[in-house]
This record gives sequence, structure tokens and C-alpha cells, in this order.
Amino acid sequence: MPLRRYALAVDRPVQDADLVLEQVRYYDARASEYDDWFFRNGRYDRGEQATNTWFAELREVQAVLEQLPLDQANLLELAPGTGLWTTHLASRAQKITAVDASLAMVEVAKQRLGKWRAKVEFVHADLFTFLPTATYDGIVFCFWISHVPRSRLDDFVEMIAGALSPGGFVFFVDSRRDPRSTAQDHVLPDTGEELMIRRLDDGREFSIVKNFWASDLLIERFAAQGISLTVTETATYFQVGVGTRR
Ligand SMILES: C[S@@+](CC[C@H](N)C(=O)[O-])C[C@H]1O[C@@H](n2cnc3c(N)ncnc32)[C@H](O)[C@@H]1O
Repeated sequence: MPLRRYALAVDRPVQDADLVLEQVRYYDARASEYDDWFFRNGRYDRGEQATNTWFAELREVQAVLEQLPLDQANLLELAPGTGLWTTHLASRAQKITAVDASLAMVEVAKQRLGKWRAKVEFVHADLFTFLPTATYDGIVFCFWISHVPRSRLDDFVEMIAGALSPGGFVFFVDSRRDPRSTAQDHVLPDTGEELMIRRLDDGREFSIVKNFWASDLLIERFAAQGISLTVTETATYFQVGVGTRR
């Protein structure tokens, strides 16, 4: 079946639920090759220097995460994917509730977790309709907030705020706008656009949302929901947010 193409919306809200579904279909189809992006293999290999920079900056991000009160915490992880961050969180937390819409991605995470598997409860849900029924010591979402359409950002932040215990923390990491962060055959959305085409190794194409949020905008939107947020950036690749619920 031919995939639907979406007009590149500038100010028009993305209301099409099909787009949200297409993102999930994309991750279902990508699950077995997802980690190539993180480990800079295949189409994501941008040369030795770029790879070294990637991992050096990732270590900076991980050091920020390490400083947070993860020990024995009851955590909510949104969009855990293949569990690249879940495994680390599970080594310190008491329990993690991990919410993702792609069963294929989560299947990889379950394998990766190994001895930590029992600490993680996976919930299969769409984060745009997910309503948490508990509150958590911390909420973590890695490489997820860039996939939130502009029209849904406020609802998403409101959902997070409602799931966070007073004094609880938020941690996120996402991509800065650098073309080397994605595959050689991908083109990042222009400034003001939020849709891009992603290709798989077999050539299949999907339209997904990729927003490079301005730090000030995120700080303002989180503040409106009672979360004090600090946003920093590594030199090339990553934007990191740490927040506390007032
Ligand atoms: C870029 S991956 C991030 C995975 C992981 N956090 C990481 O950093 O490697 C985005 C994740 O969002 C999930 N996802 C996409 N749309 C979703 C939705 N509407 N609801 C829940 N999860 C969704 C995908 O299945 C995928 O696991």
C-alpha cells in the first residue's frame, strides 16, 4: 500500500491522527535496525571523528542523568524504545513503568534488560492518549519530545506534570539540529517545518514529526505546568532537559 505523504505544515496544526499512527508503524518496522542509529552503524556512520564526538557527548548526557536521584526511585519512562536508557535506569531504580506504542521496539528492550527485566512494567499505549493513574518520583523520555507535534506539546507537558510527584524530576535528551545525527540519506526538516521522511535499510519511507524545540519555548511551556526546567546543549548533538515539579 503506498504510504501517505503529508504537506509540510509551517503554522498549520498537525491534527491528523494518521500521522501519529505512521510514527508508530515506522518504529515497528525499524525496531531491528533502530540501534544502528545510536551506535553509529551503517547509514548512520558519519566517520570516525563524528562518531567519537557522538559518544563523548553522550557520556556528558549520561553524566547529567547520573546526578539525578534514581536510586530506589519509582520512575515513568516514556517511549523507552529498545531500552537503551531503560537498562541503565533499571540498574538503580526500584521500579519503572515504561510506556511505548511499538510492540516490536519493546520486544528488543525486553531482551536487552536481562536481569533487570523484572523491575520494568511495559505498558502498550499511545502517549497522546495515555492517562497515568499514578504519580512518579521521576519521568524520563529520551529522543521522544522531538516527535511530539507542535499542536500536542501543551497536552503532553500537562500529562507529564499530572504524573509527577511534588519535588519529582523530569529528564529528557533529544537531538540538536545537526545533519550528522541522522542517516546519510535523511534530510532534516527546515526551520519552521516539523515533518521529515525517514527511510529504512530496505528503502521503505515514512513521514514522521521531528521538532527541534527552542530551549526557551520548552522552559516556558513546562513552567506553565508547574515544572522548573533547565535546558542545556552539548556542543554538537544533544539537547538535555532537567526539571523539578514545584
Ligand atoms: C526515537 S525512539 C526513542 C527510543 C528510546 N527512548 C531511545 O532513546 O532510544 C521513539 C520511540 O517512541 C515510540 N513512539 C512513537 N510514537 C508513539 C506514540 N504515539 N505513543 C507511544 N510511543 C510512541 C516509538 O515506538 C519509539 O520507541
